[in-house]
Amino acid sequence: MRSLAAVAAVLAISARLAGACTDGEHHFQTPLVKPSSTQTIPHRKLVWGDVNIIHTTDTHGWLLGHQKLVPPEPNYNGNFGDFASFVNRIKATADAQKRDFLLVDTGDLHDGTGLSDGYPRGLEFDGEETDKFFSRLPYDIMTIGNHELYYPEVALDMHVNFTKMTKRYLTSNAFINITSETGLTKTVPIGWQVAKFQTSNHRLNVTAFGIVFNTTGAPNVRVEHAKVMVNQPWFQDAINERPDFFLLTGHMSVSGDKRVDNWKDVIDPIRAKHHDTPIIILAGHTHTRNCTQYNDKRVVALESGSYMDTVGWLSFNLPKPGNDLDYNRRYLDPNRVTYEFHTNTTEKTFDTDEGKKLTEDLGNLYNKFELYRLWGKSPQDYSLFYQNVTSDKSVLNLFINKVLPRLFSNVPCGGKSNPKFFLINSGVLRYDIFNGEFNQNDQLTASSYQDKLWCIPDVQLQYASATANKMNGHASGNSLEHSFFDPREARRHEMAEVDAIRQRWIAEMSKRANFESLQVEDKTLGYVTQDTCGNGQPGDGDDTEHISVGKQVTFPKMLASWQSQPTNATLMDIVILDHGWQALIGTLNSVQSRKYGWDDIVKNFTNLTTDAVLGEYALKEWNTTSTNAI
Ligand SMILES: *[C@@H]1O[C@H](CO)[C@@H](O)[C@H](O)[C@H]1NC(C)=O
Ligand SMILES: *[C@@H]1O[C@H](CO)[C@@H](O)[C@H](O)[C@H]1NC(C)=O
Ligand SMILES: *[C@@H]1O[C@H](CO)[C@@H](O)[C@H](O)[C@H]1NC(C)=O
Ligand SMILES: *[C@@H]1O[C@H](CO)[C@@H](O)[C@H](O)[C@H]1NC(C)=O
Ligand SMILES: *[C@@H]1O[C@H](CO)[C@@H](O)[C@H](O)[C@H]1NC(C)=O
Ligand SMILES: *[C@@H]1O[C@H](CO)[C@@H](O)[C@H](O)[C@H]1NC(C)=O
Ligand SMILES: *[C@@H]1O[C@H](CO)[C@@H](O)[C@H](O)[C@H]1NC(C)=O
Ligand SMILES: *[C@@H]1O[C@H](CO)[C@@H](O)[C@H](O)[C@H]1NC(C)=O
Ligand SMILES: *[C@@H]1O[C@H](CO)[C@@H](O)[C@H](O)[C@H]1NC(C)=O
Ligand SMILES: *[C@@H]1O[C@H](CO)[C@@H](O)[C@H](O)[C@H]1NC(C)=O
Ligand SMILES: *[C@@H]1O[C@H](CO)[C@@H](O)[C@H](O)[C@H]1NC(C)=O
Ligand SMILES: [Zn+2]
Ligand SMILES: [Zn+2]
Repeated sequence: MRSLAAVAAVLAISARLAGACTDGEHHFQTPLVKPSSTQTIPHRKLVWGDVNIIHTTDTHGWLLGHQKLVPPEPNYNGNFGDFASFVNRIKATADAQKRDFLLVDTGDLHDGTGLSDGYPRGLEFDGEETDKFFSRLPYDIMTIGNHELYYPEVALDMHVNFTKMTKRYLTSNAFINITSETGLTKTVPIGWQVAKFQTSNHRLNVTAFGIVFNTTGAPNVRVEHAKVMVNQPWFQDAINERPDFFLLTGHMSVSGDKRVDNWKDVIDPIRAKHHDTPIIILAGHTHTRNCTQYNDKRVVALESGSYMDTVGWLSFNLPKPGNDLDYNRRYLDPNRVTYEFHTNTTEKTFDTDEGKKLTEDLGNLYNKFELYRLWGKSPQDYSLFYQNVTSDKSVLNLFINKVLPRLFSNVPCGGKSNPKFFLINSGVLRYDIFNGEFNQNDQLTASSYQDKLWCIPDVQLQYASATANKMNGHASGNSLEHSFFDPREARRHEMAEVDAIRQRWIAEMSKRANFESLQVEDKTLGYVTQDTCGNGQPGDGDDTEHISVGKQVTFPKMLASWQSQPTNATLMDIVILDHGWQALIGTLNSVQSRKYGWDDIVKNFTNLTTDAVLGEYALKEWNTTSTNAI
C-alpha cells in the first residue's frame, strides 16, 4: 500500500494552497482532481459483524465531494463514484464471507451545491438530476428528508418517480395529496410505510420503517408526528410479528432535542411488544456525527454527519439471550485513502467500472450546468462555522458588510435613495468561500436559495437598529420566539436549528483541540467526535485520528449592517428578504409608533436573487489581476 500519511507541515501550508492555480487556464475543467497526499490513513480496520451497514445522510448535493484544499476539506474529497466503488467492494467482501450487508440513506438529497441546485430554472427542479445518481448505488433502504418535502414538485417527483427508481423508499409518516384524472383528491404515503424483508446471506427477518421529524412541508404534503403515527392500526399491525431486528431509518436526529428527535416515541411501542428484539436506528438531519443507545442495551442509533463529510459504518451480531447488543460504529472520512485502506486496494486497483462511470457522469452534469463559470478569485478564506460574525474572515460578515452594500448602496428604494440598512436572515449563507477561484458551483454552495430582496424606505436608523436587536433577542430574551407566517421562513428556521445544533457539536469539539499533538503525531485537522456509544471517549468512533477542527463561535439570527455611520434621525432604506417580512414588520411596528405594512414594502428593488449576488460581487471586486496574486 502506498504510504499516504500526512505530515504536520501540511497544515501550515495548506491554508494558502487553494489559490495555487493562478494562470487562468483552468476555467473549463471539471475539478475532479483528488490530491490524495493530504489525508491520514485510518488507524484501524473496520470491525465486521453478522450484519454490516453503510449509512449516508444529508448529502445535500455534495456528490462531487469537497474539492477545496483548505483543511479539513480534503478529508471529504471522495466523490460519489469513489463511494460507489467502495460500496461495491464492501458488498462483495460481505457476500464472499457470508455476511449481511445493507446500504441506507436517510434523506436531504439536495439544497447545497451547484450540482443539485444549479439546474436550469423553469426547466428542471431542485435535485432532479442528482437524485438519479442514488438509484445507481445498491441502496437497500432510503428515506425522505425535510428538503424533499419543501417544494410541491419535488415531493411529487419522490412519489411518482423516486419510489419506483429505488428499492425501498420508506416514508412511514409523510403523505402527499394527489388528484386523480377524475378530479378526486386523496392523501397517500409518498413512498412505502413499512418494509419486511430478509437479509441476503443469513436470511434474517427485518422490519423497517422510514420516519421524518415533524417538519413544515409544502402545501401538498402532510407529516404526521411520530407519536401519532405509532398509534395507527397499520403500525401496530406491522410490529406485531417479531423480526430478528427492527431497522428504524429516518430523518430524525439522535441529539435528544425533542423537536427533531422523536426516536423514543417509536422505540417505546416496539418495546411494549418485544422487550429484547434489537432495534437498529439510522438517523440524520442535524449534520453531526453522533450515536446513542437510549438507555437500552439492545438499541443503537447512529447519525452520520452531512455534506458527504461522513460515511457511517454500523455492524452488529445478534445477541444471545440475556446479552447486550454487540455492535461497532465508525465515522469514516469519505476519501480514497480511507476507501482503499478498508478494501485492501491501491490507487490503481481501487476503482470499479461503475464507480468510474459515475464519476464521469457527475463531471458531465457539472459541465452541463456550467458550474465551472468563473466569477472571480476570492482573495482569502471566508468561513461560516469557524469564525464569529464580527471577524473579517466570516462569510456572514463578507455578505452583509461588503457584498450587499457594494451592489445595492446606490439602488433607489421606490422613489427614495436613503442609505441602506441590510437586515437579512443569516440562514441565507450555507457554506464557506475559499481563497482562489470562485465559480458558479462555489456561489451556489455558499448561497443556493433564490430569495428576492425587497426594501422598506424611510425608516429612522434608531428604529431599524432596534428592530435588528430585538429580532436577535438582545432586547426581549429569546430570538426564536417569532411565529412563522410564511412557510419559507419556517423552513429557514428549521435550517437555523440544524446549524445551531451542529455549531454546538463543533464548539464542544473545540474544547478538546490540542494543537501541540499536531507537531508530535501525524495528524490532520478534522472531527473528533464524542458520543455515548463504544467507550464514550473523544475520537472513539472516528475512523481517522484528527486534531479537532472546533472553534467557539456564535450565530446571529439576523445579519444587520448599514453603509455609513449616520446619526439617529437619519432615514434609512431597510433591505430585507422576500420572506419573514411579517415578523420583521411586526417587530418594526413594536419599536416605534408608525404602522408599517405590506404596502410599504417595495418589491421591485432588484431582480438579483440571493443565489446570484455573490457572483455579481465577485465580478466587480474579485475580477482584477491585482487580487489574483498569491
Ligand atoms: C417523472 O420522471 C419523468 C421522466 O424523467 C418526468 O418527465 C416527470 O416529470 C417526472 N414526474 C414528476 C411528477 O416529477
Ligand atoms: C389534502 O387532502 C385532504 C383530504 O385527504 C384535505 O383535507 C386537505 O385539505 C388537502 N390539502 C391540500 C393542500 O389540498
Ligand atoms: C421470517 O419470516 C418468515 C416469513 O414471514 C417466517 O416464515 C419465518 O418463520 C421467520 N423467521 C424467523 C426466524 O422468525
Ligand atoms: C408539528 O408541527 C406543527 C407545525 O409546526 C405544529 O403545529 C404541531 O404542534 C407539531 N406537532 C407536535 C405533536 O409537536
Ligand atoms: C491485500 O491485498 C494484497 C495484494 O492483493 C494481498 O497480498 C493481501 O493478502 C491482502 N490482505 C488482506 C488482509 O486481504
Ligand atoms: C472578468 O470579467 C470579464 C468581463 O466581465 C470576463 O470576461 C472574465 O471572464 C472575468 N474574469 C474572471 C477571472 O472572472
Ligand atoms: C449527541 O446525542 C446525545 C444523546 O442524545 C446528546 O446528549 C448530545 O447533545 C448529542 N450531541 C449533539 C452535538 O447533538
Ligand atoms: C467568538 O466569540 C466568542 C464570544 O464572543 C469568543 O468566546 C470566541 O473566542 C470567539 N471565537 C473566535 C473564533 O474568534
Ligand atoms: C440613538 O438612539 C438610541 C436608541 O434610541 C440611543 O440609545 C442612542 O444613544 C442614540 N444615539 C445617538 C447618537 O443619538
Ligand atoms: C418600481 O415600481 C415603481 C412603482 O410601481 C416605479 O415607480 C419604479 O420606477 C419601479 N422601479 C424599477 C426599478 O423598476
Ligand atoms: C427586472 O426585470 C424586469 C423584466 O425583465 C424589468 O422590466 C425591470 O426593469 C427589472 N428591474 C430591475 C430593478 O432591474
Ligand atoms: Zn440536512
Ligand atoms: Zn434535514
